[in-house]
Amino acid sequence: MNIRKIVKSVFGGAVGLFLIIQGIGASDFPLFPPLGPLPPVTIPANNPQTEAKVELGKKLYFDPRLSGNNWISCATCHNPALGFADGLPRMLGGPTSKEGGRHSPTVINTAYNEFQFWDGRAATLEEQALGPIQNPNEMFETLDNVVRKLSGIPDYVRAFKEVFGTGITADGIAKAIAAFERTIVCANSPFDRYMQGDEHAMSESAIRGMALFTGKAECIKCHNGPNFTDNRFHNIGVPADGPLKEDLGRYNVTKNDADKGAFKTPTLRNITDTAPYMHNGFFPTLFEVVQFYNGGGGRSENKSSDIHALQLSGQEVGDLIEFMKALTGELVEIKYNAVPLAFPNLPKGF
Ligand code: HEC
Ligand code: HEC
Repeated sequence: MNIRKIVKSVFGGAVGLFLIIQGIGASDFPLFPPLGPLPPVTIPANNPQTEAKVELGKKLYFDPRLSGNNWISCATCHNPALGFADGLPRMLGGPTSKEGGRHSPTVINTAYNEFQFWDGRAATLEEQALGPIQNPNEMFETLDNVVRKLSGIPDYVRAFKEVFGTGITADGIAKAIAAFERTIVCANSPFDRYMQGDEHAMSESAIRGMALFTGKAECIKCHNGPNFTDNRFHNIGVPADGPLKEDLGRYNVTKNDADKGAFKTPTLRNITDTAPYMHNGFFPTLFEVVQFYNGGGGRSENKSSDIHALQLSGQEVGDLIEFMKALTGELVEIKYNAVPLAFPNLPKGF
């Protein structure tokens, strides 16, 4: 083969690969970032990952002593055994386990989020981490108290010295937890393997579902890019449910009328692990979610113009669900030593 032919075949291969990555029906919507395997996580310059920092973050993540009654940890609501969520429609938190207005989202792949929370009110994992500790309906503790409590535990004092060269600080707590969260990444799903050339990794039904996802069903308009989200906010008309009569979503942050009832497009990776679905956990199964879209979404004055009836047949609904099931991949294994959930050994005075 002469050079020209090689160049031509490499180029031809690249075009072919490009078309595969774009997705089968992508010609309908060529402007959306293509689906595909996830890139490596971006690590912020002001919080480099180190093994010791991740270990410290993991310890903090599972430690109920970060809460007001030493009973609730991050893992209570973002439990590794429940897809790093809690399996409930809406979170239960605070000293009386009161039901909140929103569903606990998974922590899996939050390292890829441009915004944190359903309404995007935090930008980074560092910014997010101290919120739940101080929220009266979640862990109801003060940062001063957490710092005081942890400062009485020699293991933590040693770890903070090693990792940050300081005593216990709220900033260090946030950075260590964020570093740990950046390791909770899920990849190598059947979909990823299919995109990397293993034709047998997805079933025929899932392959048809992918074509629908990127074509007739128009899911790609919002669930796009390697993490299946545009990192934007839309009102799709999910009915109100739970203690909140109305949740204005993104509007609470921007005060822009167009954002009323808009919520962040969630990732669909590992979606089989994190039922029930939507910001208020309204739908128990993926079947109900797809039927909701098929019927044109919910009712809302402010509903996105991209949400309309889809005329999907029964088989097509099933194919879309099969495709979403193929997005569940392997998680890094999290090993940790549990600290006692009740009556922990606290230093004197607690
Ligand atoms: C009582 C339950 C509860 C506890 C405890 C809790 N969370 Fe959450 N978490 C939630 C809920 C509910 C939301 C969504 C709230 C919203 O969007 O307004 C959330 C959102 C998040 C998000 C944003 C995810 C996304 O995709 O937007 C991250 C990250 C997160 N929590 C991490 C943590 C960490 C770290 C801790 C411990 C310091 C913690 N959570 C403790 C319930 C909880
Ligand atoms: C206009 C943008 C848009 C389109 C189009 C769209 N989605 Fe969504 N999707 C969202 C938003 C926003 C949410 C969260 C809404 C809420 O909680 O109120 C969501 C939520 C979901 C959820 C629940 C995820 C979770 O973790 O709770 C699933 C599953 C889902 N969409 C699948 C689909 C499928 C399948 C299609 C195509 C039939 C589709 N979406 C089309 C924006 C969109």
